Amino acid sequence: MKKFFITTPIYYINDIPHIGHTCTTVAADIAARTHKALGEEVFFLTGTDEHGQKVAESAAKENLKPIDYCDKISPRFEEAWKNLNIGFDFFIRTTNPNHEKVVADLLQKIYDNGDAYKDKYEGWYCIGCEKFLTETEMIDGHCPLHPPEKTVKKSEENWFFRLSKYVPKLIELIENDETNYIFPEGKRSEILAKLKAGVRDISLSRENVEWGICVPWDTKQTVYVWFDALINYYSATQFVEGRKDFWPASVHLIGKEILWFHTVIWQAMLLSAGFTVDQLPKKVYIHSFYMIDGQKMSKSLGNVISPGQLVELFGVDGARYLIARSFPTENDSDVGIERFKERYNADLANNLGNLVSRVAKLGEGKNYGYTVNEPNDHFIDLVDSFNFNEAIDYIFKSYIDSSNELLNLDKPWTLDKDDPKRDECISTCRANLQRAAYYLSSVIPDASEKIKKCFEGEIKTLEKPLFPRI
Ligand code: MSP
Repeated sequence: MKKFFITTPIYYINDIPHIGHTCTTVAADIAARTHKALGEEVFFLTGTDEHGQKVAESAAKENLKPIDYCDKISPRFEEAWKNLNIGFDFFIRTTNPNHEKVVADLLQKIYDNGDAYKDKYEGWYCIGCEKFLTETEMIDGHCPLHPPEKTVKKSEENWFFRLSKYVPKLIELIENDETNYIFPEGKRSEILAKLKAGVRDISLSRENVEWGICVPWDTKQTVYVWFDALINYYSATQFVEGRKDFWPASVHLIGKEILWFHTVIWQAMLLSAGFTVDQLPKKVYIHSFYMIDGQKMSKSLGNVISPGQLVELFGVDGARYLIARSFPTENDSDVGIERFKERYNADLANNLGNLVSRVAKLGEGKNYGYTVNEPNDHFIDLVDSFNFNEAIDYIFKSYIDSSNELLNLDKPWTLDKDDPKRDECISTCRANLQRAAYYLSSVIPDASEKIKKCFEGEIKTLEKPLFPRI
């Protein structure tokens, strides 16, 4: 059976789940469900990133031991995803001892391979990003993504990873269409240009951060949180029962700010640990960001949208639909509650929801037989390239808009009950709705199931509107 292994980034545990994390997670869920429906064996992995300086600082603020803090906060993410009907197969936490063991083993291999050496490093470090910044990454002397005080000067003796050694190999892989793993195209060229501009080695350990996994050959140092975090994708396949064969990952889905880690550092780490080219992740898909009403989402601006808020306003399927429709692919996507309301009312309450009610009412008690459902290649291609907006548009235009047009044209409610044209019109709409429900089931699973039940066999009317107007 074909295997499909998809991952989201593991989210920093010290933040609360917001619409940014939600968009990646919903997108991965849609892809996972689509592949499941194709009969593939799917492994969908998400989780939380729990080590490092900023988690230790957050725990200290609450007077908690880091692990107690993590145990307290981690369920927030898990619950948020369950409340959105996200069908993840495993929720990984980097404080899981099974994960920690795989991290130590993999790092030991890097060391044994001669790719770790001790060196002194001094530079500007952003605690928010948990990384050293280059001059070009800073704006006005600090990280543009986090408050200025998060950028601090650090001078440490660390273990370094010979990243530069792997640059020629990575360039070779990315330049070749057969082995390239970076999507979409714009990101591929961005990374190639950066690789060709020259790459410095990076530190793989921390001297003064206690909250981390011990470096196996030097217990005075802990593993740099990014090295620890990236390994989650592999470690889960090793310790979660029955998942060994899922490596290498089919897709790592990530946001654009963590592109370098996922397309350069991660592959170099794996090559250094002895993985062959065939054992590298097949695809890294990089999406852009949500902006909220034209602004960056931030706590200080008070414009953070939470997944709970979306579910409360639009229901589970409504929230999933709105996320999918606005998913930021190559460009940032501007979203906001008001625009979500408009979209919800137009597409779900009026267009789809009303149509289902009308057709069910017109055809109540009739049985028009069975509509064959088979995978639609065009829809699957669009989902595989994370073009959900286009994918949904395609289904709406093909089956939903066309049915509304047909109803308005034929006006079956004005026709005699025995008029064959009446039956023909209702039967066509019903078949269209069954197909739409089948294709959209990865996006709106509950509503799809309700539509399916309503039109299966004898048509039954719905007890409640599918998507109540807001
Ligand atoms: N812990 C690291 C990832 C380690 S993966 C081995 C991390 N965590 S994070 O909590 O900051 O999550 C970052 C991810 O959240 C982004 O890559 C993206 O998937 C999602 N988003 C966060 N803000 C976002 C937006 N404003 N818009 C869209 N997605 C964004 O980085």
